[in-house]
Formats: sequence, structure tokens, C-alpha cells
Amino acid sequence: MNKESYTISKICCIGAGYVGGPSMAVIADNCPELEINIVDVNEERIKRWNHDDLKNIPVYEPKLEEIVSRVRGKNLFFSTNVFKEIESADIIFLCVNTPTKTQGFGAGKASNLKWLEICARQIAENAKGHTIIVEKSTVPVRTAEVLKNILITNTKKSFSILSNPEFLAEGSAINDLNNPDRILIGGEDKKAIEALSDIYAKWIDKNKIIKTNLWSSELSKLTSNAFLAQKISSINSISALCEKTGADIEEVAKAVGADKRIGDKFLASGPGFGGSCFQKDLLNLIYLCEYFNLDEVAKYWESVLNINLWQQKRISRLIVEKLFGTLNEKKIAILGFSFKANTNDTRESPAIKICMDLLKEGSFLNIHDPKVTSKQINKELKDYSKNEEYNFYNENSWEKTLDIDEALKDASAVVILTEWEVYKDIDWENKEFLMSSPAWIFDTRTITERKSINKTNLNYWRIGNEF
Ligand code: UDX
Ligand code: UDX
Repeated sequence: MNKESYTISKICCIGAGYVGGPSMAVIADNCPELEINIVDVNEERIKRWNHDDLKNIPVYEPKLEEIVSRVRGKNLFFSTNVFKEIESADIIFLCVNTPTKTQGFGAGKASNLKWLEICARQIAENAKGHTIIVEKSTVPVRTAEVLKNILITNTKKSFSILSNPEFLAEGSAINDLNNPDRILIGGEDKKAIEALSDIYAKWIDKNKIIKTNLWSSELSKLTSNAFLAQKISSINSISALCEKTGADIEEVAKAVGADKRIGDKFLASGPGFGGSCFQKDLLNLIYLCEYFNLDEVAKYWESVLNINLWQQKRISRLIVEKLFGTLNEKKIAILGFSFKANTNDTRESPAIKICMDLLKEGSFLNIHDPKVTSKQINKELKDYSKNEEYNFYNENSWEKTLDIDEALKDASAVVILTEWEVYKDIDWENKEFLMSSPAWIFDTRTITERKSINKTNLNYWRIGNEF
């Protein structure tokens, strides 16, 4: 290390999940001179990252297998050797999960920083020399303070803490990482900021690298997710109004989005947002506002979350109403269980709540998804049944089907919940005979075409377009 800059040759990433895995794979691919070790306490997960058959790696992302096959064993390694890799790293990325607290102060809203704290203690004990710690996980504002307080207890070592939130969206992670809109780095130590910035500058235009103080960086990530979630709740609220007035949500979204000040992204009406981030980060923001007695601000963001829950409920209710008020003994085909297309992630998927509502009404579900396993579906439904309202849950009331035809067989209705490409191509004229009669199509993702469905005898409901 010279006085002007830090020398970086080894990176350690703690957490081999949806963020750690893809983001480190892309750094490894763009920086062959760096050695990157991803460590995780979950042995099973690490085994899958190291599996000979790349189809078994634990995260499904378009183009990820290709990159992992190029860099794994060359400059990207997966292991459970947390202490050893911390010891030799120049930079440590923290990519562990920060779920919403389920008990104690702030339960249901605040983030649980238990995992980050454990990591900080492991780093304080095992790091050697000067180490740069990078928060990649989305965290409440001033989390870096917590890390600092833990690390500072070890006076023989030195640390620089940076906030470098990840903005990738699942399903397009590789493209987002290779061509991001911006890279955000917050910190106090200019040399550390430069060291991290130099890594990104290997493939990203320097003008896209925004440098801020720690707290602006942490708050910018929460705010970005809150704004994106707000856009979805706004368009979803208007979808209900379209259904009452004869307007078409896609036409409205196109017209509204053509205004550059509003922008045409994130205006697709659907069954509500899912995923590991939006709900957790909104709750986090609400908690923060309440903590600082900003009650009106807290209420504003709470309403974004409320519309999301309302949208999911209104879809379940509408399905029951259209099917004559009862689902008893009726088979329903569910197309899509992941929270969006092109991912096998089911965290907070709207499909969980909608499926549970339909099961509660006595239906049997045939669930299809190109990437989600039945084990995963069962886990999500079972976890959700811990809510008292859903404790009726019975594992025998649904089946995962291997293909779409099997899902549609004898179904009184089909509900499209994820916008997978294979569902866009369904030729409904040729599928109608599989279903019971009269049958319904409920399209919550606006991926079907009214014109082609009008050629069938199927009843049709499409979000934001009732007429
Ligand atoms: C994300 C992001 O980092 C965060 O920004 C987001 O808000 C939610 O969590 P993600 O990669 O999606 O992370 O989470 P996940 O797939 O659960 O991966 C986290 C990994 O960290 C898990 O594999 C877990 O085993 C590992 N972990 C957790 C450790 O290795 N050590 C710990 O102490 C805690
Ligand atoms: C999000 C942010 O986009 C990303 O920047 C951040 O780092 C993590 O959280 P992710 O949750 O992976 O990413 O996916 P995203 O594409 O944002 O979708 C989130 C949810 O919103 C999905 O359920 C999706 O179906 C829904 N959505 C998205 C809509 O309903 N309509 C839209 O127009 C866009």
C-alpha cells in the first residue's frame, strides 16, 4: 500500500445470494486481474454454486450460467471459508440479507441487522491490515455507524466503510450490472472511494459513478426503491378506475408515460409488486419516518404499500365473484408463481397471497411455473399459513404441473400471474377444449390479446380493461 492509494487484488463477498452471486460474477468477468471469493454460511447453496452442471446453480438469471462458466475456478471461487477469505481480502462486500424484523422493537417494519452485525464481528476478528468494507445490502440510513462501532473496538486494525448499494433488478441482473444507469459510492475515506471506483471504471463510464457521503448513499437506495414502488401503486390504482370507466390501462400508461418528465418505465399494471426489496424497503422508510416523528411522511409511504395489498386482494375477490361466488370443488390453473418473469425467486410474490385466497375459497390449484420448484411453492404457502387467517392450509390442495396443458385440464379458470414469455404465446383457440365450460381467463399482466380470445367461448377478464 502506498500513501496515495490502496492496492486491491483480492475481494471477498459475504453472501452468495441473488445480489452477491451475479454482482461478483460480473466483476470477475470484467476484472480478470482480481481474485474474488464468495463465501456463505449455507453449505448447500455453496455446493450448488460449485456444481458441475451449471443448470444447478442456485440463482436463475439470463446469461448468468455463461459468465459463471467463464470465470468460476479462474478468478471467482465459492466456499464456506468465511474467516480465511476475510483474512486475506483487501475489500469485503456485504451481501447478506436484511429481512424485516419479526419481533421486538420495530417488529414488522424495521430491518433486522443481525446478519450484518455478525459479519462485522467476524471481520473485526479476522481481517488483517487495512480493509475496505462495502455495504451492498440495502440497509436503513446510518447502518454504517453500527458497522463502525463494532469495527472500531479492534484498534490494531484499520477499516474504511463504504456504501455502494446495488440497483440490479432480478431477471435483467447481468445487463443491469454490465450497463448500469449509475454506480453510487458513499463514504468518508476518499482513497477507499477511489479504489472501489477504479474497479467499476474497468467497464463503466466514469461519469456514471456518483460519489456522495455515506448517509446520502444509504438513503438514496431506499428512496429509489420507494419511488419505483410508488409508480407501480399509482398505475395499479388507476387500473381499477379504468375497469369502472371504460378506459384501457395500457392506453393510459402509454399516453402518460410519453411525457418524459414521468417516463414510460414501471407503468405496467399488474397483481402488485413482489420481490425481496420493495415491501421491506418501504417498511424500513416508514419506520425511519415514524422514528423521527415525521408521521405525515410515514403515512404517505404507507399508502403505497396499502394499495399494493389492496390490488392483490381485489384480484382474488374478483375471481371468486366471476365464478358465481364459490370456488368449492373447482380447479383453477395458475400460470406463474415467481414474483416476475425470468427469475426463480418467489419472495413476496403476489402469487402467494392470491393462491392462498383461492385455496381458502375451497378450490384446487394446478400451478405451473417454468423455473420455480414445487418444494419452493410449498415452502412459501406453508410460511404464509402462519398468518391466522390462512392456517387452514393443506398441502394436498394444489399440484405443480409439468406443462401448461396439464394445468389447464378441467380448470374452471386460468389466472396468469407472471409475465413469462411462454404464456404470451398460448394459442387459446387450441386450449379451450382442455378446460371445463364455461371457463374464465384472468390476465393480471396484460399479456393476452383480446382479439384472439374473442374467437373462443372463454370468458375474459384483463386487468385495467373490462370492456
Ligand atoms: C439481498 C440484498 O443483499 C439486500 O440488498 C436485499 O435487501 C435483500 O437481501 P439477496 O442476495 O437477495 O440479498 O439475499 P439472499 O439470496 O437471501 O442471500 C443472502 C445470503 O447471505 C444467503 O445465502 C445467506 O446464507 C448468506 N448469509 C447470511 C451469510 O453467508 N452469512 C450471514 O451471516 C448471513
Ligand atoms: C427492484 C429494483 O428495481 C432494483 O433496482 C433494486 O435493486 C431491487 O428491487 P426487483 O425487485 O428485482 O428489483 O425487480 P423489479 O423489476 O423492480 O420488479 C419488482 C416488482 O414490481 C415485480 O413484482 C414486478 O412484477 C413489479 N412490477 C415492475 C410491476 O408490477 N410493474 C412494473 O411496471 C414494473
